[in-house]
Amino acid sequence: MFDVETIRKDFPILSQKVNNHNLVYFDNAATTQKPQAVIDAIVESYTKTNSNIHRGIHTLSQISTNLYEAARKTVQSFIHAPHDYEIIFTKGVTESLNLVAQIFSEAFLEEGDEVIVSAMEHHSNLVPWQIVCERHKAHLKFIPFNHDGVLDIEAYKNLFTEKTKFVSVVHVSNTLGTVNPIKTMIDIAHGHNVPIMIDGAQSVQHFPIDVQELDCDFFAFSGHKIYAPTGIGVLWGKEKWLEKLPPYQGGGDMIKTVTLEKTIYNDLPFKFEAGTTNYVGAHALGVALNYLTNLGMENIHSHEKDLMLYATEKLSQIPYVTIIGNAPEKAGAISFEVDGAHSADIGMILDKQGIAIRTGTHCTEPIMQYYGVPGTARMSFGLYNTRDEIDYFVKMLSKIAMMFQ
Ligand code: ALA
Repeated sequence: MFDVETIRKDFPILSQKVNNHNLVYFDNAATTQKPQAVIDAIVESYTKTNSNIHRGIHTLSQISTNLYEAARKTVQSFIHAPHDYEIIFTKGVTESLNLVAQIFSEAFLEEGDEVIVSAMEHHSNLVPWQIVCERHKAHLKFIPFNHDGVLDIEAYKNLFTEKTKFVSVVHVSNTLGTVNPIKTMIDIAHGHNVPIMIDGAQSVQHFPIDVQELDCDFFAFSGHKIYAPTGIGVLWGKEKWLEKLPPYQGGGDMIKTVTLEKTIYNDLPFKFEAGTTNYVGAHALGVALNYLTNLGMENIHSHEKDLMLYATEKLSQIPYVTIIGNAPEKAGAISFEVDGAHSADIGMILDKQGIAIRTGTHCTEPIMQYYGVPGTARMSFGLYNTRDEIDYFVKMLSKIAMMFQ
């Protein structure tokens, strides 16, 4: 049983009033709220067990290390990775994506080579590739999308040449909500012997992920978008790639032995975890993932799917409101415009009614350029949102849209 009213009680922030109205939090694609279990895990770590990991023989260090390594196993099982040592803790999805762009290009990208991304990437999966392609004199190619916000898979097939070295693509668009057909895209890349990374920042919190079934080469996501704290993220990579790739940063813990002249690097995953990591964040991420597993990712998926269909139908009926992005399969986010209004004004007026949404370009300026808009308003769902909240939102938005005419 997925009882949303009971589940909401696990999230203390949701029960407050904002601007004298019950908070309606529809900015989950930017960051999610935290259940009490995650907040408790952080407080308890700093109250009782805090100690640096992998470095101490004393009791607290052992406990802290055990919590960190247990979290790695929790992530492994959550995304169905074959090995725990393929899970690398980073500070967020942006670092995970940059890590791969930096080290893959250093090892394998040569002048004239090509990398493929989509035209709907978040800046974090576009700019890192622009940087390394410029540095290595390689070409960045883009999979186009149509007016509904659907990627053109025929065009994608035609982008491959002998020179294609890597594909990196977003699973779910943070702006359009489009769920991309990544299984097909992974199979196409592998048909050309090209490795592929999936940016799972907006997918892993909405439906079950099985990296073995997908067979991608890398999968990346952030903790704070999946009900865990900020400053912790994950990169999963196939062992064969992680073994072949050079380290990302140098420092403590990523070494086996060091002389003044040379360093022997540590085994996986530590080779990619230089310095003191966010071990408290990793533990809290593990707690968040266990919380979701207990609720059931399939249950979360069906609940959010219902919200998506309900909100889409209601929004479509509001005069002067246009949804941007009408892919047949969507998750998490709905972007929209109101005739005659700037998205920031819509966001500010809704805020006065206690409703939190995001407005602007959502770190996807090329999407705005495609639609020829300066920005959009975006509502985005989490597992604790309800149809009642959508009804209240729709009532308020209808009034605001009318006001601008
Ligand atoms: N990438 C986050 C968003 O879409 C911040 O809002």
